[in-house]
Amino acid sequence: MARENIGPVENFPPNKGICVEIGGKRIAVFNTTGQFYAIDDTCPHVGGSFSDGTMHGSTVTCPLHGAEADVRTGMCTPPAPGPVGTYEVVSDGVSLFLDA
Ligand code: FES
Repeated sequence: MARENIGPVENFPPNKGICVEIGGKRIAVFNTTGQFYAIDDTCPHVGGSFSDGTMHGSTVTCPLHGAEADVRTGMCTPPAPGPVGTYEVVSDGVSLFLDA
């Protein structure tokens, strides 16, 4: 596991998902009003992009068929068949770093 600088904190506005690609893997980064979380971007149902979904608190809704993922835990509701991976995001106050 490597810690990657994924850019300035201001690139990750509140209540919005941003997709970053690390080592060929698409990871969705979320800012829940100051707390940063990251999950696999690809919905385990049929591949919707969680970073394009709508956020409600710590939940993001898949834009394709409405599965909800908790960005803190990776747990998903149907029709997603299971959870997604989670990644630690840390900030030094200037940039964000992701362990992937
Ligand atoms: S692809 Fe996400 S709910 Fe279907």
